Amino acid sequence: MSELNKTALKILENGKGILAADESTTTMTKRLDSVNVSSTPENRLLFRETLFSSSSMKDCIGGVILYDETIKQISSKKNTIPELISDTGSLPGIKVDTGAKILAGSPDEKITEGLDGLRERLKEYYKLGAKFTKWRGVYNITKNYPSKLSIHSNAHALARYSALVQECNMVPIVEPEVLMDGDHSAKECLEKTSEVIKKCFEELITHKVDLKGIILKPNMILAGNRSKEKITNEEVAKLTLECLKSSVPSEVPGIAFLSGGQSEIESTENLNLINKHNNTNFVMSYSYGRALQQGALKYWSQDIKDIEGTQQIFNHRAKMNTLAAQGKWSKDLEI
Ligand code: 13P
Repeated sequence: MSELNKTALKILENGKGILAADESTTTMTKRLDSVNVSSTPENRLLFRETLFSSSSMKDCIGGVILYDETIKQISSKKNTIPELISDTGSLPGIKVDTGAKILAGSPDEKITEGLDGLRERLKEYYKLGAKFTKWRGVYNITKNYPSKLSIHSNAHALARYSALVQECNMVPIVEPEVLMDGDHSAKECLEKTSEVIKKCFEELITHKVDLKGIILKPNMILAGNRSKEKITNEEVAKLTLECLKSSVPSEVPGIAFLSGGQSEIESTENLNLINKHNNTNFVMSYSYGRALQQGALKYWSQDIKDIEGTQQIFNHRAKMNTLAAQGKWSKDLEI
């Protein structure tokens, strides 16, 4: 078993998932503004350090995705943030893309940037303690989109990124996110997501990426958030499994879903059903941002010194998702 394969499996072992705490400063500022907390480097660190020192880190969180600012910050205990995370037994990771920009040739769509100088940045992050990385491509569904151009160019970028990351001995998280925004049906989401994922793997193979040493971070198959169609959680699980079974090569060790704007409970419930019905070889877990942090952030904003209370909320969410990643969650466990 290669080192990269071991790392990927370790991150997702025993129902562990990933805490996506890699919001850019712009996004984090929006999140903090929404709860009336001032977005200073100190407050961003305080909230994140509160999560990273929670007791659930040990048994539930196999990896934490950091943002450039955070990986270079020093904790209140005077160790680095990657050290703080590693001390809990979890692995530090880093978002390395520089964001989605307007795609030339199709200005209503986005292409993710960040390849220039990436090899040098990766070396720096590795020295800082990162063991894995993340790059997110983003696609929207409308009548004409995602276009072939966006599907191709984002897959190409994800593959070039992944090859560079593996060269630097880290596990790339490959995140092609088909957004839930829109009035599309679940069937359209299934078709487009399958097309997007298949193209990603075609490019990953062309770029000689070791598929055993990656983690795929896809969206679940949902109807658009403005669609009249309402599908059940059981159907979400069924369609998501159908999509991944037909588009992900069997060498891939693990899949960690993004939450994508679903509520906390919905993300947990869908993950649980996916695992209950999992008829694939893939480990299926979570890499949630909002669905792990929303409740904790709201609570913390009432009193940013209440570390313990905030951690209790976060611990509960992390435990629920880790149970869901084993198909062992039920609604009556929620408080
Ligand atoms: P959400 O779970 O909030 O969608 O965030 C996951 C993520 O990392 C998006 O890139």
